[in-house]
Amino acid sequence: MAEFRLPANSRINPGKTFPAAEGAGRIRRFVVYRYDPDSGENPRTDVYEVDLDRCGAMVLDALIKIKNEVDPSLTFRRSCREGICGSCAMNIDGTNTLACIKAIDDIKGDVKIYPLPHLPVVKDLVPDLTNFYAQYASIKPWLQSRTPAPPDRERLQSRDDQHKINDPATCILCACCSTSCPSYWWNGDRYLGPAALLAAYRWIVDSRDEATGDRLDDLEDPFRLYRCHTIMNCTRTCPKNLNPAQAIAETKKLLIERRH
Ligand code: SF4
Ligand code: SF4
Ligand code: FES
Repeated sequence: MAEFRLPANSRINPGKTFPAAEGAGRIRRFVVYRYDPDSGENPRTDVYEVDLDRCGAMVLDALIKIKNEVDPSLTFRRSCREGICGSCAMNIDGTNTLACIKAIDDIKGDVKIYPLPHLPVVKDLVPDLTNFYAQYASIKPWLQSRTPAPPDRERLQSRDDQHKINDPATCILCACCSTSCPSYWWNGDRYLGPAALLAAYRWIVDSRDEATGDRLDDLEDPFRLYRCHTIMNCTRTCPKNLNPAQAIAETKKLLIERRH
């Protein structure tokens, strides 16, 4: 029988344990993925015991406390700590989400933290998003219009037209959805993934944009769009409650409609 195992150099070894300070009250264990590709060593999981009586409520608070007080080598991205910038996206307790809005109390047992899945790791919890951003750029995420803007005001939209782009325009490009999508795991080099496709949809349905036909042409491709098999992981995981799967389905519908 075929046996599938990770290559020896990518197996995750047990790492160090950092015990809580003496006299700690409510102790929680944070099991955190550590990897430095430059070191030549295998990835490992380090365990940090954190006193929740001396820590903020969110997982990001614990990571910052660990970095500040226990282990400055721990590497992760963060900026706004308000669920706005998208930079603290990681896999927490088995789900891709934002560390700054994930409450520690909502997790039972050890808090297990890994980088977003199926991306190369730059260090620890920092994934390489180069391909993800290139795919976003490839859908030309800006207004394309040959009609000049009115000289005295902005390009106006009706309330209903604005309503169509309200949700997709609030995407924070955290990559939680794309990195939860099995199609993206296996074909991430050619399949655009839910985040870029949601952005494409946002411009396709924008009433002020005049490149709708070109935008649809660019997606009429067996890989870029049609690798979506409506598995719905993307919508389930989005920390902003957006619905990329629906946007992809709507885009496919628009492509069919224009053939008739
Ligand atoms: S619905 Fe499509 S984009 Fe979303 S997870 Fe499934 S295959 Fe991926
Ligand atoms: S759709 Fe949601 S999960 Fe995907 S990148 Fe945007 S905010 Fe993140
Ligand atoms: S730090 Fe900005 S979304 Fe979490």
